[in-house]
Amino acid sequence: MNDLFLKALHCENKGPRPPVWLMRQAGRYMPSYRALREKYSFMEMCHHVDLIEEITHLPINAFGFDAAILFSDILMIAEALGVGLHFEEGVGPIIERPLRTQQEVAHLPPPDMGKLQFVSEGIKRLKKSLKVPLIGFCGAPFTVASYMIEGKSSRDLKRTKQWMYSDEESFHQLLSIIANWSIAYLQMQADAGVDAIQIFDSWANYLDHSSFCTFSLAYQKKILDGIAAKKVPTILYCRGSSVFAPLMAGIGPQGISLDWNCRLKDMRNVVPSSIALQGNLDPDVLLAPEKKIRLATRALLEDMRGDAGFIFNLGHGITPDVQEASVKILVECIKEFR
Ligand code: CP3
Repeated sequence: MNDLFLKALHCENKGPRPPVWLMRQAGRYMPSYRALREKYSFMEMCHHVDLIEEITHLPINAFGFDAAILFSDILMIAEALGVGLHFEEGVGPIIERPLRTQQEVAHLPPPDMGKLQFVSEGIKRLKKSLKVPLIGFCGAPFTVASYMIEGKSSRDLKRTKQWMYSDEESFHQLLSIIANWSIAYLQMQADAGVDAIQIFDSWANYLDHSSFCTFSLAYQKKILDGIAAKKVPTILYCRGSSVFAPLMAGIGPQGISLDWNCRLKDMRNVVPSSIALQGNLDPDVLLAPEKKIRLATRALLEDMRGDAGFIFNLGHGITPDVQEASVKILVECIKEFR
């Protein structure tokens, strides 16, 4: 088993190069993924154990990443909560019955992992066939709640924030319910064998400092505390989150994943060397010519040289318009770093 990723996550990588994996590494930029998508809907792919296994392997086989991330979506929990979910071409996720009232929140069901068994089965299969560590994940309650309220990706989260500011009690109730589901879900993933867990709070950058603490961080902490006994190392990701990094470091993750608006090296001044730093190349660098990809990749590698807790990643997910050849250049550049 290639353990470079886990070594770096524990801040014990003494080797010359950092491990590398990319958020959304199994996705539409890969022709092999698109070929499968011709035959199946995204929801079918997320539910089918054979496809979960096959798609998770695609980028590992094509590029030799040092970690695999389970093929699934943060909205599987929303689907299990009964609000209805499908993905529309060119639009993204659609919640069929978005939450509008306190009563609807009160009627959400308690955690039932029977509805998410396919994820557990997928992980067990993958653990038999993978030669790299497997990362499980969930969305943070604030981000999942925002989808359940907005009904689709939103540019401003107006409905979510209006609810948050006008009826704190039911907003907390919703976040608690999602956190309890997330704890049960991650415990199930841990029992099935994931080697690490990443929690995605993709929309927390819409919050001011005080709201971030109350509505995002508090529930990330609830999840970390709820799964602590499983002893699986966790990584927290927030988009636009470098200002929140010291707060995130304070709730006990093993790693923090940052987007590209900060200099990763400088984050070491506010994040202790016992916590791994993951990131943070601008995903759009992968749209540039080879020379620029190499320059930007080497600049980040040089900046983080000698940091035993550095995991190379992008600052956000890889986009569908990236060429596979560019990903090969990126990985090659990291693997030849001495
Ligand atoms: O990283 C991986 O390769 C693992 C699988 C994974 C997916 N989504 C697959 C996916 C993970 C970890 C996610 C997380 C996720 N999903 C987040 C958090 C991270 C982030 O990107 O901010 C969010 C907000 C979602 C919700 C979601 N799912 C959106 C907004 C979309 C539409 C936008 C898009 O990129 O298409 C999805 C769809 C989705 N999730 C796809 C994949 C491969 C594309 C679906 C398709 O084939 O049409």
